[in-house]
Amino acid sequence: MPKVMWEGRFSKKLDDDANSFNASISFDKRMYADDIDGTIAHAYMLGKCSIIPYDETRKLVKCLEEIKSEIDSGKLEIDDSAEDIHMFIEAELTKRLGDIGKKIHTARSRNDQTALALRMYVYRETFEILKLAMKLVETLMKKAEEERETIMPGYTHMQRAQPVTFGHHLMAYVFMFLRDMHRIASACTRTNISPLGAGALAGTTYPIDRILSSHLAGCRDFAHNSLDAVSDRDYCVELCSDIALIMTHLSRLSEEITLWCSWEFKFIELDDAYCTGSSIMPQKKNPDIAELVRGKTGRVNGDLVTLLTMLKGLPLAYNKDLQEDKEAIFDAIDTVKSCLKIFAPLIETMRVKRDNMRKAASEGFINATDCADYLVRKSIPFRDAYKITGKLVAQCISKNCTLETLPLSEYKKASELFEEDIYHAVDLATCLKERNSEGGPSPDRFYEQFYEAKVLLSPFSKM
Ligand code: ARG
Repeated sequence: MPKVMWEGRFSKKLDDDANSFNASISFDKRMYADDIDGTIAHAYMLGKCSIIPYDETRKLVKCLEEIKSEIDSGKLEIDDSAEDIHMFIEAELTKRLGDIGKKIHTARSRNDQTALALRMYVYRETFEILKLAMKLVETLMKKAEEERETIMPGYTHMQRAQPVTFGHHLMAYVFMFLRDMHRIASACTRTNISPLGAGALAGTTYPIDRILSSHLAGCRDFAHNSLDAVSDRDYCVELCSDIALIMTHLSRLSEEITLWCSWEFKFIELDDAYCTGSSIMPQKKNPDIAELVRGKTGRVNGDLVTLLTMLKGLPLAYNKDLQEDKEAIFDAIDTVKSCLKIFAPLIETMRVKRDNMRKAASEGFINATDCADYLVRKSIPFRDAYKITGKLVAQCISKNCTLETLPLSEYKKASELFEEDIYHAVDLATCLKERNSEGGPSPDRFYEQFYEAKVLLSPFSKM
């Protein structure tokens, strides 16, 4: 049974089961460096404000740095019998410095301490997520550029609809991930706010300097209301929802990849390094990685619901419910990092089967709109042109031919306005080239969106 800090007030020890139920060290120990950095900021502030002698600040900081490097190197093992990482570090400091160590918690509570450590951890991890997202965006852009002229059918309702390029399709995902990155960057500005100095809930009577401690902790400001400071976990919800959107986008791409590498589509082939076989069916090559990413989206959505539900109905200020924030946000961060990391090489190494894409594009009447537009250019109102083309398509289906191979005599029966140049108009290359409205799939327009994406990516290149 570990000794507890509050034994003065208590006549009985905490029950063993209650002790392990209450403890968070098994999962919050990953914040040891953040707790130490936050504690160093606090120690400097205490010294600068003459709340403790400055030479004691020096000893505290030196010792905290030693503890950090010993944990880094594995020399000091984190003792899982401590309640949480904050208690462990303080106990270690006191073990090494005696009475000086006992002074570190002056003008501080575990409530503002924990809140700061988690913010510092989340802030740091945000940059790791952004770096991985950037790598994926760059990989997608490279592939998109290579495939900027590769014709494929664009779909609505999973039915072949109109021609696009594979490059254009991939660029759609590029813009999704870029929005995700900008959303995370914006959430970041609300993460690096220091709760330090809010104390347990109602500030402190010591002459502290919150601007100083927040800057020392790497925060751009301090939280201006002490009750809000210790109970705010909005930044976890924000990041988790941003992560859930990244996962949603990854999941949509995973779904498409899974379809594209099926025998029904055969649009791409994934590299053997990112597929698995079957234990019984020798012919199988399964896109497990993409499927797993799609599956893991569910757990991140669960993390988001965990956080929102934890906060709903929580009175001010700190309540132990808030300890449940960590596993949820840690899981979301770990999951999205692992998915982003595996996805970039999966995309980089996939082989595009251009001929199959083109074949699919030539079979689904995806040039029917262009046939109607041909008549519109000859002054037929669009609705009439649409109806005439619909009949031609039905005729092609019954004759088992395409708009490209239907004889001109048949076209003429439908409308006298059809001339030989209809074949140029319904040629897939024409249909694609002519779709050159802003943001359209025409290869002539590709570099406009490509450079726009580069501009959106540029703020992250200095990370
Ligand atoms: N491990 C706790 C947490 O994560 C630390 C805060 C405990 N504060 C308290 N007043 N019991 O929330």
